[in-house]
Amino acid sequence: MDKLVIQGGNKLCGRIKVSGAKNGSLALMPATILSPGTYHLTNTPNLRDVWTMSRLMTALGAFCELNGNDLFIDTRELNSTEAPYEHVKNMRASFYVLGPLLARFGEARVSLPGGCAWGPRPVDLHIKGMERLGADVKLENGYVVAKAKQLTGTKIHLDISSVGATGNILMAATLAKGTTLISNAATEPEITALARMLVKMGAKIDGIGTAILEIEGVTNLKPVDETTIPDRIEAATYLIATAATGGKIDLENVNPYHLTSVIAKLEECGCEVDVNSDSIFLKAAEKILPTDITTAVYPGIPTDIQPQWTALMAAASEGNSKVIDVVYTDRFKHIPELMRLGADIDVIDNSAFIKAGKKLTGATVMASDLRAGAALVVAALAAEGTSEILRVYHIDRGYESIENKLTALGANIKRVKTELI
Ligand code: EPZ
Repeated sequence: MDKLVIQGGNKLCGRIKVSGAKNGSLALMPATILSPGTYHLTNTPNLRDVWTMSRLMTALGAFCELNGNDLFIDTRELNSTEAPYEHVKNMRASFYVLGPLLARFGEARVSLPGGCAWGPRPVDLHIKGMERLGADVKLENGYVVAKAKQLTGTKIHLDISSVGATGNILMAATLAKGTTLISNAATEPEITALARMLVKMGAKIDGIGTAILEIEGVTNLKPVDETTIPDRIEAATYLIATAATGGKIDLENVNPYHLTSVIAKLEECGCEVDVNSDSIFLKAAEKILPTDITTAVYPGIPTDIQPQWTALMAAASEGNSKVIDVVYTDRFKHIPELMRLGADIDVIDNSAFIKAGKKLTGATVMASDLRAGAALVVAALAAEGTSEILRVYHIDRGYESIENKLTALGANIKRVKTELI
């Protein structure tokens, strides 16, 4: 396993391209199950979670090949409806194959995803959605076993606007008989992009981009080529890292409208931000002002930047701030590791209280999950001295060539292969 060795203190300055969205690709890839054919998904980020989804699709009988950022998928030979535990346990998003398999084959056997670093992540809304569409769903030996000769359109209200459940139900509903109305649907850009691809494939979907999606089922869909949207969470991570190191950055291939809440908070803490249609320029504040955040569903502050924001507030020169996560109330595994870098943070229930002022100092720390690892990178870049970040494979799940992009911005960072840990 690799580690990242970071010599903190350099200001990040320069220009980098944002990669395609990990969570965008992880929605588009299962959609190719819905219609046998060949697909070319461009701007696909070349990172671990995409490799994991490709392995699962291959296990189902599809052909998947990623050349750089071009992903070629052929689902004509797809012949299995079972997503085995050894795949699903590596990545919760594997569960997104449930809806497409059920819609295309009338059955699916998908392993329940395990928990993750910050606690259980249920799939009850996914299951309820399939049942509402007329599937018979059982839990057997850790698997969700769903059967339905023909899915039937209906009304489905999501108690929580779950991204994954919205995607799963949306994909299944495209081939259901009749009309489906999903209310309180997730409006994250990755879901909007999925809906747009489904429409290109021949699906009939109204309300795209809103919390009420109306899908009129069709008898079949057709394969298409699609471009993955930019990764708003990767973009936010680099903006936050630049703010934490007092630098300035020009981010290309990004959609600023996907980041309005994060941009507002970066301006609130004193940064200067300018945007064009596909780029964001940020100049860090001389002094980062303590700025509270509370996460929310889109277009609110994404929970996926909560750890990175906490690191920024800890690296600030003074002031107390509060970070509340209402989406994942226990997503604080990064805090003890940030405290090893000298951060002064108390966690009470789903809130982190950060006391800034003491300079962060380098230490050896361990990534526990993807965004916790990103938070450690932000803090290490701002800290004095050398830090080592272990279990970098967590970070590699969602950040393409992180050390190359940071080096291009002037960071002193290198990836070291290690045998242990
Ligand atoms: C997606 O996960 C993202 N993953 C996550 O990004 C992101 O944190 C999350 O949405 C929230 O924005 C992908 O897109 C692959 P949810 P998902 O269902 O779909 C509860 C990253 O770092 N819930 O919207 O699994 C759940 O417990 C990852 O890139 C239920 O109660 O998230 C949570 O509290 C991490 N029952 C809330 O909804 C369900 O059936 C939001 O979860 C489903 C979810």
